Amino acid sequence: MSIVYNRENGTITLNTRHSGYQMKADEIGTLLHTWYGEPAGEEDLSYAIFRMNRGFSGNPYEKGSIDDRSYSLDQLPQEISCFGTGDYRASSVMMRQEDGSRALRLRFRDCEIQPGKYTLPGLPASYEDGKEGAETLTVVMEDPEAGVKAELFYGVFPEKDVITRAMRITNTGTAAKTLLKAAPMNLDFISGDYDLTGFYGKWAKERVPEREPVRHGIQSFGSVRGSSSQHHNPSAILSEKNATETQGKCWGFTFVYSGEFLFEAEKDMIDQTRLVFGIHPDNFEWVLEPGESFTTPEVVMTYSEEGFSGISRRFHDFIRKNIVRGPWRDCRRPILINNWEATYFNFTGEKLVDIAKTAKDLGIEMLVMDDGWFGLRNSDNNALGDWDPNEEKLGMSLSELGKRIRELGMRFGIWFEPETISEDSDLFRAHPDWAVAIPGRKPDLSRHELILDMSREDVQDFIIEKMCSVIASSGVSYVKWDFNRSVCDKYTHALPASRQGEMAHRFVLGTYRVLDALLTRFPELLIEGCSGGGGRFDCGMLYYTPQIWCSDNTDPIERLMIQYGSSFIYPVNTMGAHVSASPNHQTGRNTPMETRSAVAMSGTFGYELDPTKLTDAEKEEIRRGIGVFKELYETLQQGDYYRLTPPDGPGCTVFEEVKKDGSKAVVTAVYDHVRANLTPVYTALRGLKAESSYRLRLIPGHIGDERGRLFAAFYMNEPVLTGRTLMSRGIYIPHYSKEYQSWQIVLEEI
Ligand code: DGJ
Repeated sequence: MSIVYNRENGTITLNTRHSGYQMKADEIGTLLHTWYGEPAGEEDLSYAIFRMNRGFSGNPYEKGSIDDRSYSLDQLPQEISCFGTGDYRASSVMMRQEDGSRALRLRFRDCEIQPGKYTLPGLPASYEDGKEGAETLTVVMEDPEAGVKAELFYGVFPEKDVITRAMRITNTGTAAKTLLKAAPMNLDFISGDYDLTGFYGKWAKERVPEREPVRHGIQSFGSVRGSSSQHHNPSAILSEKNATETQGKCWGFTFVYSGEFLFEAEKDMIDQTRLVFGIHPDNFEWVLEPGESFTTPEVVMTYSEEGFSGISRRFHDFIRKNIVRGPWRDCRRPILINNWEATYFNFTGEKLVDIAKTAKDLGIEMLVMDDGWFGLRNSDNNALGDWDPNEEKLGMSLSELGKRIRELGMRFGIWFEPETISEDSDLFRAHPDWAVAIPGRKPDLSRHELILDMSREDVQDFIIEKMCSVIASSGVSYVKWDFNRSVCDKYTHALPASRQGEMAHRFVLGTYRVLDALLTRFPELLIEGCSGGGGRFDCGMLYYTPQIWCSDNTDPIERLMIQYGSSFIYPVNTMGAHVSASPNHQTGRNTPMETRSAVAMSGTFGYELDPTKLTDAEKEEIRRGIGVFKELYETLQQGDYYRLTPPDGPGCTVFEEVKKDGSKAVVTAVYDHVRANLTPVYTALRGLKAESSYRLRLIPGHIGDERGRLFAAFYMNEPVLTGRTLMSRGIYIPHYSKEYQSWQIVLEEI
């Protein structure tokens, strides 16, 4: 039993293998949060909550009227915090009542424990993978005066050390009310001094970790861009001051949601820390008629005493098996070649067949036709929404193109940007009201695009119908789902003025509905998420799209930081990564093919270049790279991931992947800049079996010339060392003999 309700002392304790979480309803029905950290027994941990009158922190009437001035919601740690009734900190729920007031005071009524994991209709949510003993706790909270019920859902995955949280709010009154803020996670720490790590970014530089002390006042990050965005990922890690990559207490949070979110961290007047994570309230107002409910998306939480890497490995295992679904979850996905950087808009069907032929010969398994195959689309200025193939441009029908690609023994994939519409498109001319715009105001253009109103069911139905017909007629087995702008000028013709605040969330629900419909119709379809690169990299999308294009920045050196930052939350096999041409199109940098390959291998692995323009030596290197990827696939993509030396470190980024049974490991080291007389780079390995011996070998393609052989001399004889030594004394990374040299070292248990 991972959830225990102790009726004697009133505690509800949630246990996973390495973490414990506890709550308790007190004498006036406040649901106290008493613990999240190392495993807790059933002991009542509310003893640690110290209460005193601090002035200006009011007392609920039951307490104030008997002159108990020490009881104040303003100071108590709680599972859900309501705005307007004496808790002045960031709140997790705010609601406008029919009389215009905004106060809510939810009290504990009941709770129920059930086997299995709750589901959230219409929303992506984690699920139980087989029989792992997940359980659900539902706590019912009520405010009878306001006529509101809140059900707090907790999913406990004991083997994964994960607890999830979601919430359903119901109007139990007799008149309509408006929900103004809905955050499923409120987490209070009564003591401790913490740092908060978030992941900020921009186009071509996504998910840069930034660690800051939690200060007095509210620190927050989020998105009001319609999607989770490049600018802040919907994830965070709270850590104790002394926590490092490998040790110390950390708490990780990620939102299974692709829309607007807000993460708040507040240190209060008595140095308590509150975290609130949910839908961003700025663009959110949800009208609830009597009897209606609103369900929030869920937050996934994990705790580790093994520092940041402990958090990452827990998230990786959970996302791989309990978020990502479908037939592609556990198997190797096709090595693809995408024509975007090879041709941009300038291609024909014959050109794609040529690319596919050469690619096939190199060992590549799927051709993806990117933007430009439909309508009159020859630049990014027009035709979005006209999802009919441009047969004149292709020089053949889409089904013929699909057939010719498949006849080569390759799979065929195709690009869509379903949530946008061009002003210059037949779709816009036919349905101008399908574009998102405020009546009487010209909307912002971005990349010359407008937003398609995905909050409308008729629009969703149109997109479902169009995409299904293209997929069926072309026989594609992969779709790249792109979204190249942020949303603004939010307004939908489908809702009255009083409900416009629902549009942003309904837009996201609409996207989920379309994705769900595609996967229901084509269960084998592999969808890769994309949003101008990694602009919507979140667990909401990963529920439908097992992989997401990590960034439009394909420079392998820049990718080191992007993939490093992403790795704090997301596993390698979700990060779309391609080998592209050199010099790189985003930076102009020249890098060796084997380095591009080594970096892309710690992602989904594919190509984005014109193979017909490669030299024989480059082709040979690609063949070799594909062979290495196939050989190391299980270790790289399904193993445990360790960040050894960060990209902003000594000039050499090093990371390691270890097969789940510890029998094999791959160390990848990339020199991200060159200096004369560089200090040798040493690194202790991790995750090996201490008592086992491992044979070390270099992947030959990385050794290079005579100088490389000299630097790598130690490794040339395939030395054998114990796991214990490798994890304590460690290894040195051979010096470089050329710019941006990389090394891949394989360790095999003997
Ligand atoms: C942005 C994506 O990230 C690129 O890979 C490419 O698909 C373009 N859009 C196409 O417009």
